[in-house]
Amino acid sequence: MSLSERLGLAALRRLDPERAHGLALRALRAGLVPLPGPVTSSRLRTTLAGMTLSNPIGLAAGFDKNAEAVRPLARTGFGFLEVGAATPRPQEGNPRPRLYRLTEDHAAINRFGFNNAGIEVIARRLERTRSAVPRGLNLGANKDSPDRAADFAAVLRRAAPFIDFATVNVSSPNTEKLRDLQGAEALRGLLNGVMEANERGLPIFLKIAPDLDDQALADIAGVATEVGIAGIVATNTTLSREGLRSPYRDQTGGLSGAPLFERSTRVLAKLSALSPLPLIGVGGVSSAAEAYAKIRAGASAVQLYTAMVYHGVAIAAQIARELDDLLLQDGLITAQAVGLDRDRWT
Ligand code: FNR
Repeated sequence: MSLSERLGLAALRRLDPERAHGLALRALRAGLVPLPGPVTSSRLRTTLAGMTLSNPIGLAAGFDKNAEAVRPLARTGFGFLEVGAATPRPQEGNPRPRLYRLTEDHAAINRFGFNNAGIEVIARRLERTRSAVPRGLNLGANKDSPDRAADFAAVLRRAAPFIDFATVNVSSPNTEKLRDLQGAEALRGLLNGVMEANERGLPIFLKIAPDLDDQALADIAGVATEVGIAGIVATNTTLSREGLRSPYRDQTGGLSGAPLFERSTRVLAKLSALSPLPLIGVGGVSSAAEAYAKIRAGASAVQLYTAMVYHGVAIAAQIARELDDLLLQDGLITAQAVGLDRDRWT
């Protein structure tokens, strides 16, 4: 990282976290952030549900909720991007403050509640923007919707021509009762509706919470396979507050970052044992070693968000390059490493 980047990050860290995030997006759009372009190699190149990725490190949902910085983000070194969550109608989300940095824990707590510009605006932005890497949309439902299942389908229909994949997000803890949609019956109905709306045959992923028990995981894996889901994203943020030191630890919301790593990796490995579906591993990745651990636990690809709060967007290219070294040391390509250590985590 250059001195100016370090100074920039230090200044951002002193600001209110939500304002700092807004400024980081503006800096990306204004071209103030170094853009190394795609990071790739014969070892990093891989496939995920039929998509070719230059490397398996992706941007997790929530960072670019409104698809404002897709073009520059595609040149930061990420192998794929997920924008959103998008809901049918624009939504303000919860009152501020609603994002906390837990510096001592290398973590964050957010209770945004799907604040976004709505699918009309987001779809028009995606329509105008080309990107160098595959991009997907995280699908959400309006808080006051009488039919949340229909919301997911509507958002997918509107955006489908302009995206490469979509993720059904029933795992955000910040919209009341949303996580109830993870129950087998509700989930089957919801996913069938989304698959019906998927006229273009895009890969549809399902993103789950890290706080599910083994029976719930088995049910979800079964329903996902039955309805033709392309893969599972494990995981979203947690409600657990185990082992935290920061004064913000009792804030309401979803916890992300370092303390989520073990929990989310265990869920990932369990799913990998339960289901042949490709998995995206998310939660607490801030180094190549952690990205590699997720892959070896069963992930075909990885995503991250909170590490960028602490290390800036340069972390994507750095992790991809260092992952290449780890694969080289072991004489493996990404696809060969998937699941090698699964049994250690289950
Ligand atoms: C998120 N995350 C998230 N996930 C999702 O499916 N839809 C969303 O809209 C959001 N929004 C969001 C906002 C903020 C501020 C954070 C920190 C996170 C969850 C995110 O995609 C990821 O699953 C978790 O943050 C765990 O990964 P990290 O952050 O530990 O790498």
